[in-house]
Amino acid sequence: KPVVLSGCQPSGQLSIGNYIGAISNWVKMQDTHDCKFMLVDLHAITVRQEPQKLTEATLDGLALYLACGLDPDKSTLFIQSHVPEHAELAWVLNCYTQMGELNRMTQFKDKSQRHSGNINAGLFTYPALMAADILIYQANEVPVGDDQKQHLELARNVAERFNNLYGEVFTVPEPMIPKVGARVMSLQDPTKKMSKSDDNPNNYVGLLEDPKKIAKKIKRAVTDSDEQARIYFDPAEKAGVSNLLSILSAASGRAIDELVPEYEDKMYGHLKTDVADAVVAMLEPIQQRYQEMRNDPAFLQQVMKQGADKARAKAATTLAEVYKAVGFVPYP
Ligand code: TYM
Repeated sequence: KPVVLSGCQPSGQLSIGNYIGAISNWVKMQDTHDCKFMLVDLHAITVRQEPQKLTEATLDGLALYLACGLDPDKSTLFIQSHVPEHAELAWVLNCYTQMGELNRMTQFKDKSQRHSGNINAGLFTYPALMAADILIYQANEVPVGDDQKQHLELARNVAERFNNLYGEVFTVPEPMIPKVGARVMSLQDPTKKMSKSDDNPNNYVGLLEDPKKIAKKIKRAVTDSDEQARIYFDPAEKAGVSNLLSILSAASGRAIDELVPEYEDKMYGHLKTDVADAVVAMLEPIQQRYQEMRNDPAFLQQVMKQGADKARAKAATTLAEVYKAVGFVPYP
């Protein structure tokens, strides 16, 4: 089976962007792929986190993974910091990643603007840790949203560079970016992506939010002041409306081309009502299962232990190969 690896940062409540752009696609790969899905707590601390909140968000995230349909009997589910080999490989890869490459990362540029008081070295070398996450499992495919494309390209370049120096140590991974929903946009500013760590909660919909609140946020979403209020798909000219159509398509499983004609004589309000209903319906079973999972700490412990043990076995093998390739003396 091809190996799949992906993850989310527990830097806030997971959003419908994470679900539509990533997690919902992971669920579908579990029977055909050897899947590993993690919560990347090491990445989360590249911006300041409150320790207690980070702990809770990580456990919430694990319970949400399960609630979304990730199955610990099929997939390896784990917490990144439970597999120390990620950090160990990241150090090595840091030494094979150029400052210039890291400097070109748009996410680094964005985040160093938003967190200008804490532009730490970890934020800068974040993509080398992400490359380690992927390469340590010899992953073939990495299902992510559009915003991770550049990081994936860097991981591929580092893998190829390393292989050119030392032989075929790493599998060069392929990004898998969905056709619909790869970039769910902010509700209030549809020219930027929806982010779980946004300062304005009206910009995103969290997977655990109350249905009434979700409906309210979607009804307040920015559309445009086009007097005819026509509903059609054109992300450049109609960013807000196109975002709502994408969310509706992802939540209802119906193609955008099929949806658009249904709104020919309708108003933005109609579309918003339908989007809100579809999102609430999509989240209802997830929220229900989440409660069961989150109220069963013993089960969560067991899932994360089983996942970490399984992940470590593979990670340790790759790390040993890497250490050998660079010339480290083996532990006696
Ligand atoms: P993160 O936590 O920002 O997001 C997790 C996943 O959700 C996708 N995503 C979105 N998709 C569509 N629309 C959106 N608005 C949206 N927001 C987020 C992301 O593309 C991602 O797939 N660096 C990664 C985490 C990571 C990782 C990895 C991913 C660390 N190591 C190794 C894959 C492989 C991140 O910050 O994702």
